[in-house]
Amino acid sequence: MDDMMRFESRILDLTMNLAVLGAQWGDEGKGKIVDLLTPRFDIVARYQGGHNAGHTVYVNGTKFVLRLIPSGILHPGVVCVIGNGVVVDPQALFAEVDELARNGIQVDGRLFVSDKAHLILPYHRDLDLLSEARRGERKIGTTSRGIGPAYEDKIARRGVRVGDLNDPKGLEQNVRDNVVARNRLVHDSTMEWEAVLGQLQELGTRLKPMVRDVSLMLAEAMAAGKSIMFEGAQGTLLDIDHGTYPYVTSSNASIGGVCTGLGVGPRAINGVMGVVKAYTTRVGEGPLPTELHDAMGQRLRDSGNEYGAVTGRPRRCGWYDAVAVRYGVRVNGLDALALTKMDVLDGLEELQICTAYRCGDRTITEFPSDIGQLAACVPVYETLPGWNTPTKGVRRFDDLPENAKRYIARLEQVSGVPAALVSTGSERDDTILRADVLAARLPGFKTTL
Ligand code: IMP
Repeated sequence: MDDMMRFESRILDLTMNLAVLGAQWGDEGKGKIVDLLTPRFDIVARYQGGHNAGHTVYVNGTKFVLRLIPSGILHPGVVCVIGNGVVVDPQALFAEVDELARNGIQVDGRLFVSDKAHLILPYHRDLDLLSEARRGERKIGTTSRGIGPAYEDKIARRGVRVGDLNDPKGLEQNVRDNVVARNRLVHDSTMEWEAVLGQLQELGTRLKPMVRDVSLMLAEAMAAGKSIMFEGAQGTLLDIDHGTYPYVTSSNASIGGVCTGLGVGPRAINGVMGVVKAYTTRVGEGPLPTELHDAMGQRLRDSGNEYGAVTGRPRRCGWYDAVAVRYGVRVNGLDALALTKMDVLDGLEELQICTAYRCGDRTITEFPSDIGQLAACVPVYETLPGWNTPTKGVRRFDDLPENAKRYIARLEQVSGVPAALVSTGSERDDTILRADVLAARLPGFKTTL
């Protein structure tokens, strides 16, 4: 075979690796979408965040909430990977593994954790609470899982990594130094480093068979023609760099996190799907331009069961914000949307879509970089008629009520990319797969199995 032929056959054989991430403020329904698409991939890899995520998946009426483990785990035979960009609380990890086992799902030999992933240790949780208390009125509204402090230690180069569990001497010194330093910071804290170390050693023994050089593992898998789905947690507007700082999480939830959080090059990502809810929600503090403080906000919260999967906190609800989603399209280079929770809008007389913001005497169509300006913005709405025939459980686009189709069409137009998937209920199969959009926007993606 000459070089050209070899080159062409490589192109034809190209397997699609897809990134699936949140394009709003998290809780977009990524868990369901990742679970649904998993049979088209060999590997599902999480690249950032920790057990602050709560990815809810319903299978035959059983509810699974995955926090740290990739949402692909419910499919036997699929390999799931936790990358170096994730912060891992080993206790939380094993609680999840045990819960899956109780539901008949085994992870042995198909769940792997990067040796470079940083660990969340008990003092990180204390520091998370302390930091929030110290911020007072300016608190972030974190999930109190120790996420921020664990990433702080990573950046400050004093973190403890999964691979360090193999170096007993280094581990002991690192844990001792960290616990002693934290005891000084946290008033009244008498945490004993020996206890932290002991617990870590125990968990480390259990973790050992899962530990891998994830970058190498993924490179070898790709060389063997395997396909990967990169799973994001939280959402673009919670990204540490591109989100509504400081009201953000401490990792890169947007597309850049895939490369840094897994050790893959940018060409490993063949397509990017942004998950968006048909309206907007946010949990925690920070600006939310389309937030509804009235009965409609409560209606969305009730119908959409908008209560945090991790903390149970009520989510703030509002209309679809196309300015925010367009920003997500730009930052992530989205190829297509996965539109979720359409059925929550069933029965509303009218719907609103925010297409621009009014800031003082100016109308702007780009998401402001300055959070002060964002907080002062008022949404500019377009009103669309609602629908009475339920979309719940609809599985073919043509079967949607006409006004629901109009709503989707307008939402796509003002967001800048089409929706390849439309979710109409919490079960796996309550989903419309639009083969035409997939073929146009994500060529190479398997539309059949
Ligand atoms: P942290 O990630 O616990 O530090 O919380 C920082 C901010 O991100 C808070 O506003 C949280 O409510 C929010 N957050 C963290 N994880 C998620 C998530 O999975 N969904 C939605 N919001 C999240």
